[in-house]
Formats: sequence, C-alpha cells, structure tokens
Amino acid sequence: MVQLYRHEPFTDFTVEKNKKEFEEALKTVEGYLGQDYPLIIGGERIETEEKIISVNPADRDEIIGRVSKANKAIAEQAMQVADETFRWWRKTKPEMRADILFRAAALTRKRKHEFSALLVKEGGKPWKEADADTAEAIDFMEYYGRQMLRLKDGMPVNSRPIENNRFNYIPLGVGVVISPWNFLFAIMCGTTVAPIVTGNTVLLKPASTTPVIAYKFMEVLEEAGLPNGVINYIPGSGSEIGDYLVEHQRTRFVSFTGSKEVGLRIFEKAAKVKDGQIWLKRVVAEMGGKDTVVVDNDTDLDLAAESITISAFGFSGQKCSAGSRAVIHQDVYDKVLERVIQLTNKLTIGDPVDVTNYMGPVIDQAAYDKIMGYVEIGRQEGRLLTGGTGDQSKGWFFSPTVIADVKEDARIMQEEIFGPVVALCKANDFQHALEIANNTEYGLTGAVITNNREHWEQAQTDFNVGNLYLNRNCTGAIVGYHPFGGFNMSGTDSKAGGPDYLLHFLQGKTTSEML
Ligand code: NAD
Ligand code: ALA
Repeated sequence: MVQLYRHEPFTDFTVEKNKKEFEEALKTVEGYLGQDYPLIIGGERIETEEKIISVNPADRDEIIGRVSKANKAIAEQAMQVADETFRWWRKTKPEMRADILFRAAALTRKRKHEFSALLVKEGGKPWKEADADTAEAIDFMEYYGRQMLRLKDGMPVNSRPIENNRFNYIPLGVGVVISPWNFLFAIMCGTTVAPIVTGNTVLLKPASTTPVIAYKFMEVLEEAGLPNGVINYIPGSGSEIGDYLVEHQRTRFVSFTGSKEVGLRIFEKAAKVKDGQIWLKRVVAEMGGKDTVVVDNDTDLDLAAESITISAFGFSGQKCSAGSRAVIHQDVYDKVLERVIQLTNKLTIGDPVDVTNYMGPVIDQAAYDKIMGYVEIGRQEGRLLTGGTGDQSKGWFFSPTVIADVKEDARIMQEEIFGPVVALCKANDFQHALEIANNTEYGLTGAVITNNREHWEQAQTDFNVGNLYLNRNCTGAIVGYHPFGGFNMSGTDSKAGGPDYLLHFLQGKTTSEML
C-alpha cells in the first residue's frame, strides 16, 4: 500500500549537523567536477567531438562538466529508439512504472544534499533554493507515481443492461521534453517523469547551461530500474535539434518550459502537420511571467515589504513566478517603499557555496547583460533606489535592484527581466491596483497583501493569474498543494504538480461490449 503523499521537508541549515552534511556534499561534488558526460540513447553511451561546457556561474573558470552534444543525425537515432521502445513500454503495468518513480525518489532522497550541492555549483543556487529544487524533484516523482495509480483503471462511466462500458486512459507516443535551467532539477525531472509514468517515451533535451544534473538524474532512473530507451538523453542546441524534433512527424507531443519567445516558436512549428504525420501534436508550453505583489492600505506593512523582497530576489529573481513588480496603495506607498529598501540593503550576495549568501549569481553573460540593459531602461522610467550594479570579474553577480515611481505601462513593468530587479508602482486604490496587476500579457502568479476580506474575495475573481496567494510571497508553489501554471502568454496552464497534469500525456479510450 502506497503511503499518503506528503511533500518533502526542507532542510534547516541553522542545525549544525545539516550544515556539516551539506558541506561534505559540496566536497563530494567538487570531487567530480570537470568530467566528460556522454549522450544516452537506448542505454548506449555516445560520445561526440563537440561538447557543451557547463560552467559554474559564480566562477566561470570552474567547469562543471563537458557534455556531448547531439546533432540532427543523433536526434534522429534517438527518435527511432524512443519510437521502438514505445511499442512495448506503453503496455507495461502502470504499477510497475509508478514503482520506478518511487524507487528513484528514494534514491534521490538518500543523496539529497549531493544533488542540491550540484545545483549550487551548476545553477548558482543558494543552499536553501537548491534544497527546495531537489525536494520538488522528489515530490514530482512521489506525486505523479500516485496520480498514475489513481488513473490506471480509468474513470467510471454508465453501462446499460445490454452492454459493458469502460473508459480508460492510454499513452500518446514519443514526446520531446525541453527544460529550462532555472529549476534545473525539479522542472527537468517533473516534465520527464510525468510522460513516462503514463506510458510514453521521451527525448530529453535539458537546457544547455545545466546538462550535468540531467545526466546524474538519468543515472538515478537507471539504478531505479528504468529500462533502456524509455528516456533518451540528448543535450544539444535548441535551434538545431529542438526545431528538428518539434517538427518531426513521429513526435506526438512536446513538453516545453522556458521563455515566451521559444514557446511561441515551438507552438507554431508543432502545429504544422508534416508529411506522414497522422496526428495533431499536443503542446504543453509553460512560459514566462511578469508577476505582481499587490499591497492594500489595510495591511501589515512589514509583511508587505517582506513579501515583495522575497518574491523579487529569491534565486536572484530568476523564477517565472518572481514578483518583479509591486503595486502599492498610495496610502502606504512611502512606508512600504522605505521598508523594502531596508530589507533589500540587508541581503547578502556572493558565491552560493557560502550558506550565508542570500543571493548568488545570475546564470550567464547573456542574462547579466540583459539585466544591466533593463536597469538602464529603469533609470529612465523611474527612480533607482538601490542596486543597479554588477560584478562580472569572476562570475555574474548582480545587486538586488529597486526602481520606484514607475508608470503602469513602463517597459520594466511589462517585460520579463528574469533578474533581481523589482519595479514599484503606486495605485490610487485597491481596484486600481488590480487593474494594474492585470495589465500584462502574462498571467502566472500574484500575491495580495491585505487584511480586507472583501478585497481578497474580489482578487480571487478578478486577479487573472494561475497561482494567486494571500499574505505571502508569490513564489514557491509546492507539488500536490499548489498546482502550478499560468494564463495567457504564461502558457498552457498545464498545472504541474496538480491532479490533472498527467492527462496531458494520455488520451481517453472508450470500449463498449454488447452483452
Ligand atoms: P529558454 O526559452 O531560453 O530555453 C528553454 C529551453 O528551450 C532550453 O532547453 C533551450 O535550449 C530550449 N530551446 C531554445 N531554443 C529552442 C528552439 N528553437 N527549439 C526548441 N528548444 C529550444 O528559457 P530559459 O532561459 O532556459 O528559462 C527561462 C525562461 O523560462 C523564463 O522566461 C521563465 O519565465 C521560463 N520558465 C517558466 C516556467 C513556468 O512554469 N511557466 C518555469 C520555469 C521557467
Ligand atoms: N514553481 C515555482 C514557484 O512557484 C516556479 O516558484
């Protein structure tokens, strides 16, 4: 009997024992940095001449790993293996597939700190963020395994006296999973295990900045008993193999998480039916956000400032859920602003191997340059109160930046920056604040800080986001508790970690037997 699902607890690093264990884990990871990693197709290890070099964003001279890079010919080979594997994998028992996830979750849990330490190195995650990322990966495996057990016998339908009717779910086929670097373990894991536990096979293309954690995860799945060919690990260029596989006539579905620009491209390319293709491809595309913390006048000012700061600067603002804008009632605007500055100026930045650093680096040069560009735009559009500086001498560090008095249609209020920059905007009243909160093309997360029950009721109806929170930050959804996904240009609202997520990778089949 499978135990009731509970999310993986977070580690308390103020406990000396936990801190020591994590320091040991960092040493373990440091012991295997710089190795070569092959592709994995049908269980076979394939080395290529061309490599993706994964570096530590806090110290660009530290190489995390050199990973073989798939080209179109290799992607085609992987497609054929996944296609052949699907023929028998689709008939395997759901219980067996779920058990593989439970075992993989247990194996990950045993090496939890080691994986989190790798996220510190490869993703530049502070300890706490890395620990939460690994916990979320474990949660996805535990939760989707249980969801498969719930769906395995289909759903009840009516039968008349002359017939016996059944309604079951069957898998789709070969899926292409394209994952981002920011939740380098959790999202890569969740978007990969959901299709396979439902009986599909997968071509996994992780983000090019963070391919090593995905290789390590492949090893865990193999140890857990996943047969060869069910997941094929093919890091490579998004535009080269990504486009090739998205357009492939044997691709049955694409599960993408990343930027709006790439998501739209995939959506369009996948819609075009290729010669020999006998289905319409399904696309799950979870994309960007421009998420808002709304502060009412009847509010706890300290809580408001804390919620804004955590939402904006957790993992240096590199979350689709990041609260990159705050809309504050004019009655409390100055007071909240003052508190936000105080909290922001206390944040520590530096190499995330040091547990005392709240913020680490941003992921790469392109991200650093983009953020700097937006700070320049922000200086024109508002009043820079703190931050706005960077240090790229060793890694890509950027100070937490607050820009106040920004107009509601300013570019830094509309465009996803994906860095530690928050825009503050004044609202006339709560109604006006909600209007501003809804004025973007996105619709992912939001938070409302208020003691006014009626306003919270109103926000639940009128604040148009996939994940809305009261009196807390707008980041940190937990699998099985806060199904996660957004509206409009934030994506297909597929609700990762939710009770209907697996249905994206299944199709319903009705059978009716005459009696
Ligand atoms: P990205 O779009 O640059 O890359 C995502 C993935 O797409 C990577 O694996 C990349 O190699 C691949 N890719 C790039 N070009 C491609 C192409 N032409 N065809 C196929 N694949 C291609 O995004 P990123 O920088 O890795 O991640 C940050 C973005 O992801 C942000 O916009 C963030 O908001 C979003 N995100 C969204 C969610 C969500 O659940 N909504 C979660 C995490 C991140
Ligand atoms: N699921 C992540 C969060 O809620 C992105 O912050």
